[in-house]
Amino acid sequence: MCGIVAYAGEKQATSILVDALKRLEYRGYDSSGLAVLTDKGLEVYKTEGQITNLETKLPKIESSCGIGHTRWATQGAPTTINAHPHVSGNIAVVHNGIIENYQELYDELKSEGYKFVSETDTEVLAHLAHMYYKGDLVDAVIKGLKKVRGTYAAAFICGDSKQVVAARKDSPLIVGIGKGENFLASDVTALLKYTRDIVYMHDLEIASMTSDKIDFFDFDGNPVQEHTESIEWNVETAEKSGYPHFMIKEIHEQATSVHDTMMGRISELTGEVMLGEIKLSNEDIMKLDRIEIIACGTSYNAGLLGKYLFEALAGIHADVDISSEFRYANPVLCESTLLVAISQSGETADTIAATKEAKTYNCRTLAITNVVGTTLSREVESIIYTRAGHEIGVAATKTFTSQLIVLYLLAIHFARINKRLDVDRSKRLLVQMKQLPGIIQQILNNKELIKKQAVRFSKARDYFFLGRSLNYPIALEGALKLKEISYIHAEGYAAGELKHGPLALISKDTPVVALATRASTYDKMLNNIKEVKARGAPVMAIACADDTEIQKYVDAVIRVPVTDELLYPVLSSVVLQLLAYYSAEDLGCPIDKPRNLAKSVTVE
Ligand code: M6R
Repeated sequence: MCGIVAYAGEKQATSILVDALKRLEYRGYDSSGLAVLTDKGLEVYKTEGQITNLETKLPKIESSCGIGHTRWATQGAPTTINAHPHVSGNIAVVHNGIIENYQELYDELKSEGYKFVSETDTEVLAHLAHMYYKGDLVDAVIKGLKKVRGTYAAAFICGDSKQVVAARKDSPLIVGIGKGENFLASDVTALLKYTRDIVYMHDLEIASMTSDKIDFFDFDGNPVQEHTESIEWNVETAEKSGYPHFMIKEIHEQATSVHDTMMGRISELTGEVMLGEIKLSNEDIMKLDRIEIIACGTSYNAGLLGKYLFEALAGIHADVDISSEFRYANPVLCESTLLVAISQSGETADTIAATKEAKTYNCRTLAITNVVGTTLSREVESIIYTRAGHEIGVAATKTFTSQLIVLYLLAIHFARINKRLDVDRSKRLLVQMKQLPGIIQQILNNKELIKKQAVRFSKARDYFFLGRSLNYPIALEGALKLKEISYIHAEGYAAGELKHGPLALISKDTPVVALATRASTYDKMLNNIKEVKARGAPVMAIACADDTEIQKYVDAVIRVPVTDELLYPVLSSVVLQLLAYYSAEDLGCPIDKPRNLAKSVTVE
């Protein structure tokens, strides 16, 4: 995940910026850079890879004002050219976030004569500030950003004065107040060594920072009063934004990550999904007669929902295979098959090998992944990035819900082209999708209820998760999450399978989580709940907020806000992540690094 730092003071800016960037390394990055003001004017240094590469490149320079960045690529490869800062004339900018109307701004700036050198959306910010700069950087930044749709935390400097101008919208940015020096960062961790007096900037706010002064403005240029807070956190707590584990921090980030995954890809006004990154023409899509999904673990569970969506919405037959099985099977693929490889890391050995195997059949290939520039991305024709941000906890959480979102988008896109989804239904679905971040936040606000249930059953030896149709993959994911971090044995089942064996295991000692949100199979699910209740199992249901029936049959209900029937899997996933987390926490497990597991499985 990208990181921003900035400094204005009397000390050596380069060493402070490099040190502060190193404190953001834990967030993950693929390149870094800085821009400083020296006697010669603006100087910019950037490199791929480790911050030590940047250090090696830096000459001995005298400077007391500058901006720095660690980049985690989301648009454009992780190269030196794409690394920040980006420059236009004597203005440099570092940026976290996504510029939604990049193409529009790019075309406009091109027609004004601006030349683009990188593949990043950030470069438009540098040119916009340059276009409006008439000696007042605050004014130029405001005018430029008023044209931008999207999210940003951005810091600008100009060769003319020792001043940093910063702005934020939906991406964190903090100012650190020192004595005769001031700081800026996207994450408090970067600044703890230097100051504990912090101002958290608000959305649509501008800060102008010099060595002895910080002023805040709104987007009309009016002064804004801000309060300084004193931070007590140590570095470890700060890295987790005050949460005890990365996993729970990442669970809480989902309102934002789901929003970022959708950003610029949805038009609820026209009912269209825009996926310019896929290299399949409408004719190519109409010719597809089969989708083969390959993935491992959590990504495989996302793939199972993908199968449901491709078939239900787009009318394209889909299969899902575990990569380690697929690579040694005898797959039947041809030119009209689309292979969809799903991998958060893009480095899972089995998924890469399975993709290579699939390519020998000349099928079309597409990857859904979270990390730019990985081995998997080099193997496929099209890539859709999930934009969930760097995930540190071994258990996949925010990357899973972002994978689900991409699968919804892809299925809707195919369905529109195949004329299987009319405009009105598509618009309604997209409107509901746009509301998911807010709904996820409501679930997170109710986490204490989920915690109570988790603690109640944390001493259970076995757990069962039941779901039908589109809830079945989420039952599997709920079980995987629980066993992975709490070491409680858990099984996910298609509820209709119970009678075919597993019912023999159900007793008063086996808590059952029933995914009973609105679906065409709801009544069948109620019957399955009655089956397990009759065997004495305590049942916890995940149900819709307006369900007045369910409480008659279960011991506890965790309610999720009402949405489109197709979208409940996203909501239930968040509930099950919290259930797993609080169970593991109650048992004192090493949540972020479960035994025997690694974040990325790069060996067979
Ligand atoms: O990076 P990938 O998505 O390819 O990883 C696949 C699995 O190893 C991964 O999803 C694993 O199951 C998670 N740790 C589960 O939380």
